[in-house]
Amino acid sequence: MVDRPSSVVKELVENSLDAGATEITVVVKDGGKSLIQVVDNGQGMTENDAILSFERHSTSKISAAEDLHRIETLGFRGEALASIASVSMVEMKTRIPEEAEGTLLKLEGGLVKTLEKTAWQQGTSISVKNLFFNTPARRKFMKTDNAEYRHILTVVNRFLLSYPEVSFTLYRNRQQVFHYPGQSLEERIEAIFGERYRENIIPVDFEFAGIHISGFVGNMDLFRASRGYQYLFLNRRYIVNKSLNYAVSLAYGTVLPHGNYPFYRLNLDLDPEKVDVNVHPSKIEVRFEDERMVFRSILNGVKEALNSAQAVPVLRAPEDVPEFFEPIRKPPFQEMRSDSNNLHFPFEFRQSQREPRPIGLPAEREESFSSEEEAESAREEPPGTGRPQVKQQLYKASQGERVSVWQLHKKYIFSQIKSGLIIIDQHVAHERILFEQAMEHFDKRPPSSQQLLFPRTVELNTEDFEVLREIQYYLSKLGFIVKDFGGRTVVIEAVPTDIRGDEETILRQIIDDYKNLEERDIREKVAASFACKSAIKAGDLLSQEEMISLIDRLFATKNPYFCPHGRPVIVTIPLEELDKRFLRL
Ligand SMILES: Nc1ncnc2c1ncn2[C@@H]1O[C@H](COP(=O)(O)OP(=O)(O)OP(=O)(O)O)[C@@H](O)[C@H]1O
Ligand SMILES: [Mg+2]
Repeated sequence: MVDRPSSVVKELVENSLDAGATEITVVVKDGGKSLIQVVDNGQGMTENDAILSFERHSTSKISAAEDLHRIETLGFRGEALASIASVSMVEMKTRIPEEAEGTLLKLEGGLVKTLEKTAWQQGTSISVKNLFFNTPARRKFMKTDNAEYRHILTVVNRFLLSYPEVSFTLYRNRQQVFHYPGQSLEERIEAIFGERYRENIIPVDFEFAGIHISGFVGNMDLFRASRGYQYLFLNRRYIVNKSLNYAVSLAYGTVLPHGNYPFYRLNLDLDPEKVDVNVHPSKIEVRFEDERMVFRSILNGVKEALNSAQAVPVLRAPEDVPEFFEPIRKPPFQEMRSDSNNLHFPFEFRQSQREPRPIGLPAEREESFSSEEEAESAREEPPGTGRPQVKQQLYKASQGERVSVWQLHKKYIFSQIKSGLIIIDQHVAHERILFEQAMEHFDKRPPSSQQLLFPRTVELNTEDFEVLREIQYYLSKLGFIVKDFGGRTVVIEAVPTDIRGDEETILRQIIDDYKNLEERDIREKVAASFACKSAIKAGDLLSQEEMISLIDRLFATKNPYFCPHGRPVIVTIPLEELDKRFLRL
């Protein structure tokens, strides 16, 4: 199925691997729209085979009638090249080792235009130019060059991980993006994802009922908030299977927090006869004769690996890892921006919350659910005694009524309003505030950001690096100063003033979140991912001032009622509702 440039890349690379190539080079121009070229050092084709290869159902992978069944089980249809050629301009150069000269074949819209002898190395090069030149509807369906390029990277990444012994090189618009020599799987994982991955992966090698499971799973240091890095291969072909994904997660048990996903790269080796790979046109979904058995094998295989001695770090809580290079920041109140009006107070977060505390003891200020009396006395203090004026703002807003705020389960803020009770979800409220702020910043000069005392060097994988490049400009508008450091390494030099937590983690989370958001305006996507990742979380203890400031800033937004992802921010319970429930009415 050829529906976009990345599927062309997939088919061509698959053919090169089928031809036994040990070196494959992929060249992409304009997101693959103007050129996709795959060059391999595989077995090559004779002139005759070269012509035949573009005919439908002409797979050379059938050499004898008995083979037919086997071919079917492996899913060769012999139609990939034919369908690619019918919607593009193709140029093929190929030579088998036994012959001195190669063949040059050019086709347009599936018709042969040129056939001649040519000097050529062993192997095959196929260039696909001007994809969908003769099918305008499909051409229009393609996304931006960047988006198509990212799809290609996703596809290439899968091959990188299923064939580590094959050398891969990728060029984009004449520039080399990467070159990986043939190497071990462990080395390949490190080359793609960085050293951190090599240090935190656990080998899996498990055989059960004719199923062999091999590869690596990540320990808890590699948990991520998105599914991104989960690679499952069946006989080295990438597949997608929800239930088998779940089998891997299940193996982690309670170590895996809700909403987190482990890293894995696993291959299932099993008799092709026991799988139907023809249920989906791109063969990405498959049907197993006995899926329960496969599920159990994965579950047990991964469990066994996690229980092995090497998996001990899994039991280590990430909080216990000392952060030696915790950057020192200016105190939050110096960060007040002169351009923001006084309504918008920056948050002051309690340092103590980030410090480890002995298990079993409550947080020192846990009981700071302020009592009404406390709120009362605070209110009675004359203005200008050091209490933030924002408080007065809220009293003003509530027309002098008695107002108190309470935090419930470190998640919800309760407050009295004239007509009854409001309940605010602290995380989504802050998200809404940050989202609107971010949208405003895109149109203005960037806000002041805080320079990190120790700039953070971050190594990204190719895909994330691309995403970063796409959003870098917008991030800078929010106060993130991230610079290229060569290769896929970037340096975080400064972050927005009201950001909390580890800069690298936040940057990675923004990238993840951005990838997960469906097609929307790029600014909205950046603003929403930034807001979600920098907002206070459920579980953060807030002081009275913080809660009041939050409510205040929330009501200054354009749409205080819904967060950028569409979740409600505020629930109101009218007094009558309560009266009714207490049978007062
Ligand atoms: N890079 C290559 N090196 C050698 N032979 C190739 C190469 N690419 C294609 N071929 C030959 O062309 C034939 C047709 O390729 P095509 O991709 O259309 O079908 P297929 O790979 O047999 O099946 P499928 O449709 O499942 O991909 C292949 O069977 C193979 O013999
Ligand atoms: Mg093929």
